[in-house]
Amino acid sequence: MCGIVGYLGKRDAYSTILKGLKRLEYRGYDSAGIALLDQDLRVFKKKGKVADLEQHLNGEKLTGHVGIGHTRWATHGEPNDINAHPHFSPSQKLAIIHNGIIENYDAIRTDLVNKGHKFESETDSEVLIHFIEDIQNHNTSDLEEAVRLALTKVVGAYAIVIISKEDPDMLIAARKGSPLVIGLGKDEFFLASDATPIVEYTNEVVYLNDSEIAVIKGNDLKIKNTEDVHTTPYIQTLDLELETIEKGGYEHFMLKEIYEQPKSISDCMRGRLNAEEGYLVLGGIREYANKLENADRIIIIACGTSWHAGLVAEYFFEEFCRIPVEVEYASEFRYRNPVIKEGDVVIAISQSGETADTLAAIELAKSKGAIIFGVCNVVGSSIARSSHEGAYIHAGPEIGVASTKSFTAQLIVLSMIALGVAHQRGTITEQTYRQMLVEMETIPEKVGKALKLDTQVKYIADLFKDARNFLYLGRGYNFPVALEGALKLKEISYIHAEGYPAAEMKHGPIALIDEEMPVVFIATNDSSYQKVVSNIREVKARKGKVIAVVTEGDSIIPKMAEFVIEVPATHEALMPLVSVIPLQLLSYHIAVMRGCNIDQPRNLAKSVTVE
Ligand code: G6P
Repeated sequence: MCGIVGYLGKRDAYSTILKGLKRLEYRGYDSAGIALLDQDLRVFKKKGKVADLEQHLNGEKLTGHVGIGHTRWATHGEPNDINAHPHFSPSQKLAIIHNGIIENYDAIRTDLVNKGHKFESETDSEVLIHFIEDIQNHNTSDLEEAVRLALTKVVGAYAIVIISKEDPDMLIAARKGSPLVIGLGKDEFFLASDATPIVEYTNEVVYLNDSEIAVIKGNDLKIKNTEDVHTTPYIQTLDLELETIEKGGYEHFMLKEIYEQPKSISDCMRGRLNAEEGYLVLGGIREYANKLENADRIIIIACGTSWHAGLVAEYFFEEFCRIPVEVEYASEFRYRNPVIKEGDVVIAISQSGETADTLAAIELAKSKGAIIFGVCNVVGSSIARSSHEGAYIHAGPEIGVASTKSFTAQLIVLSMIALGVAHQRGTITEQTYRQMLVEMETIPEKVGKALKLDTQVKYIADLFKDARNFLYLGRGYNFPVALEGALKLKEISYIHAEGYPAAEMKHGPIALIDEEMPVVFIATNDSSYQKVVSNIREVKARKGKVIAVVTEGDSIIPKMAEFVIEVPATHEALMPLVSVIPLQLLSYHIAVMRGCNIDQPRNLAKSVTVE
């Protein structure tokens, strides 16, 4: 949801910032822009991708060692050149990049218009830089103080970086709600929404906290909060390899990430689970472990794919721990006055750890005394930091906007949490517990086997690439997989797809079925297998085209379905880890065949830091 980059040092600012923006493009790609400070402060911006900006600037003399850049996911104002960031202040002595939403921008804008301000864009960000300059003109000439005063008046979320023509060796940054990392090089500083633009230059970083302002001047970094209280920067070492954020020979990040799953799943279990010794320990869940074990109920909050992982976890926790679970869309949860009691347990799932709705839902639950367990991928992210305890999924950076390897790693972490709780509560027998641990260790290999179905899935994709609608049906643990399969297809191929519990089909979606309708059944051999077979018959009776994901060796469904994709057998509670693989591949191939932008689907962003 908008990526921001800043640089101050000895390198060429333009190329450094441009490269950084390309790494952050997953956060939004409606427009891109750069401000460079050399003799003058110049702003260049363009609707479209970072590559469009690059092409637009081809031949320009772009010198300077200080600059800021932005890649946008539009919130206020349509994506065009004018609404693109950076935005100038009225005097054009200041420019700002902003990720987030200033909620009271309208009131501030009206005040400023009454004072004679004229705005070029429709953005809240331009209002903020006007506001800062207005304070500088009337209250204090000191920019640092003007920024601080402005931020005390601002309601909403922001990560901002400001560059000033009059202070050529200074950048001012601040955050509240939206992420911001500062990379500390030798006599140089990098600022970015996440660490990916920084890692190739330095592994020393400072994560800015909410309501903090960073002032970089020459070789000096100073941090204070909006109350003007200074703090010592807490320097952390990045644990991120450059190769993990590059395509490594794959045509798209999404494909690379699908193929990484055997490894990401192993990484997720490494050091935490050892079946032979019956060992299962999540180092991040200690002090509050008893809260989980003694919970009367568990509330899971998440969005998108993470919400689907939460649904699988609901089945898992209820089956093995016998604790009631409610899975909530974070966006609904936060606005419906939910009943939360002191000591209630909330599990928040988020790949990015920055999703605004999930973060706000956490804050709400915390304010009512709930204990929050975060399940995040991005280390040091806002959700990870605002949780009481939690477990990282260690899937490695996920760059493709459509989430794949994070889903499976989330399932592994949630299964580990649930099995640990069940074991402590005594709601699982020692034998089943041991068997589940053994089965979990086989999952990377089984996922590897499922990936070998790629050629077959590609063949099916070719036959159905022009379909206008798809139905995905599953029951039990495979119901959330149906939702996830449909979401993947929608996201990247723009084909309308619906996921449904297979048995609910007869209460509506069955009306859609005719010979034009491909229906993907996730029909592996589990406790609802026979029921799903009946549902397949119902679809066949109405001439629907059935593509079925079944367990290897199935002898019934191949006689009914047009296409059968056989995945390795596993415990039904772990089957989503395997059955989702062909669905990821199906959506990938269909989208490629339709000429869609795989890693940056239209209108989407990977990290949704606005509500
Ligand atoms: C966006 C992404 C989805 C993701 C969802 C939740 O919509 O495009 O892929 O599932 O946000 O993101 P989170 O980072 O909280 O898991």
